[in-house]
Amino acid sequence: MLGILVVVVVLCTTLTISFVGITNRTVYLNTWRQLSQNADSLINDDEIIFNKKTGQIVGIEKSQVDSKARMLIRQHVKFAIYDGKHALRYTNEPDYIPTISAKEWQTIKTGQAIQKRANVAKTTKKVTIKQTTPYSPKDEKLMAPPEMTTVIKPYFYKGKLVAAVAIGTFTSTMRENMNQIINDLLISFLIAVLVALVISFFVSRSLTRRIDAMNKATRQVARGDYNIHLENRQKDELDELSHNFNVMARSLQESQEEIKEQEERRQQFLANAAHEMRTPLTTINGILEGLAYDVIPEDEKKHSIELMQRDTKRLIRLVNDNLNYEKIRTNQISLNRKVFDAGAVITNLRDQLTKKAAAKDNQLVVTAPPELRVYADYDRFVQILFNIIQNAIQFTDHGTITIGGRLVSHGTEFTVQDTGIGMTDEQVAHIWERFYKADRSRMSTKYGESGIGMAIVHQLVKLHGGKIRVTSRLNHGTTFTLFFPDRQSAPHTGVKKNHENGNESDK
Ligand SMILES: Nc1ncnc2c1ncn2[C@@H]1O[C@H](COP(=O)(O)OP(=O)(O)OP(=O)(O)O)[C@@H](O)[C@H]1O
Ligand SMILES: [Mg+2]
Repeated sequence: MLGILVVVVVLCTTLTISFVGITNRTVYLNTWRQLSQNADSLINDDEIIFNKKTGQIVGIEKSQVDSKARMLIRQHVKFAIYDGKHALRYTNEPDYIPTISAKEWQTIKTGQAIQKRANVAKTTKKVTIKQTTPYSPKDEKLMAPPEMTTVIKPYFYKGKLVAAVAIGTFTSTMRENMNQIINDLLISFLIAVLVALVISFFVSRSLTRRIDAMNKATRQVARGDYNIHLENRQKDELDELSHNFNVMARSLQESQEEIKEQEERRQQFLANAAHEMRTPLTTINGILEGLAYDVIPEDEKKHSIELMQRDTKRLIRLVNDNLNYEKIRTNQISLNRKVFDAGAVITNLRDQLTKKAAAKDNQLVVTAPPELRVYADYDRFVQILFNIIQNAIQFTDHGTITIGGRLVSHGTEFTVQDTGIGMTDEQVAHIWERFYKADRSRMSTKYGESGIGMAIVHQLVKLHGGKIRVTSRLNHGTTFTLFFPDRQSAPHTGVKKNHENGNESDK
């Protein structure tokens, strides 16, 4: 605020000073011009008669000059007419005679007019105007205030100085005008300062408030609280700064949430992984202890070793699946995509899994056409379908699993529909999460139980640039719908890195 005020005051002062200077000069110039014109009219209008031979004034048209003199008196203008020999010939105001000093006389003799500001005295002695009265330097002693501004002009005839007019007016008249101007300027100066004071008060108050709000927000961010919204009217640079600050706080909040989510996922993953490994390890440990203390009957030993083998395999599978998942998730695997016949793959899978399905009294039905083009990585495609069909068998008893497929615009679509136990909406929402198992109690260990299968399938489909969708009704069945884009629509590289627990099951 102080800064603005100082600038305004300095500006106003400088302007006032230069304005007063200019006005002063202009007033004097105008006065001198006016006086000079008056002097010309006195000489040139043939009111002064002079001898053209001697160059001496021989007479004055008194009545004419008197009337001019009276007019000039009314305008506070005094004048004196001198002849070519510096003798005073006429004056309109005997009290104040604009005099010409000897030095000035020398100057005007050269033809130069003189403009001067000087003090003139009121003449105390009676002035006699005679043709022969020469100029006496004694007269100069009479000079004293008040100040007059005077123009002295010489007049020549055939190169001979014939007359000189000293014409002047009191500067006090001009001063009055000047003072009036200065007074007006002073008042406007004060008003300007006052207005500047009020404006700068409001402007600086608003600026201070906004800067304070930003300060507060900065401290809030420093404390780790990113819930900030600074007001932004999109008017000036401070508004832009506020906007950028809001954007920064928002992105900080987002990354903070992302870090928190990642940490939670990491902890969840470690807890799940530890849990999944504990069961087989406990089984193996128990059997090993039994064997060590020889408490397992001889005929049970073979079965115990088989159990250990099964759990060891399960552990290996768990580790491999996790490694596999991580590789896919972090884009470390590259797809070898080509167009092939998916119909043949489906037929193969049906043949391969019919026995497993039959073991649970399930029927495998293929409705997909025998020849169906798909653009995908062959091995990954088999892995995806195998996992989904295996799940369908796993979670269905005495039912039907139908595998369908068709060409759609920009790709190929597959469906795996079962009439099994189905899922609730909440279970469907979590299906792509690693280690997610809808219901631990009804788990079949026959086809795996680590809860990684769907997470891998999800990542693989995304890697192909495809889509996977699940619809399910509890106790009625589940349908998986998969879409693989054709060669023209498929992305050239793998997908971007995804959240490992991305919950994107379209319902
Ligand atoms: N067709 C289905 N019907 C009902 N529930 C299903 C079906 N497919 C998957 N689920 C549910 O989703 C969970 C996750 O499936 P996912 O295949 O990832 O794991 P999993 O089959 O239990 O173990 P694995 O890692 O060996 O495949 C299953 O445990 C199950 O609760
Ligand atoms: Mg599975």
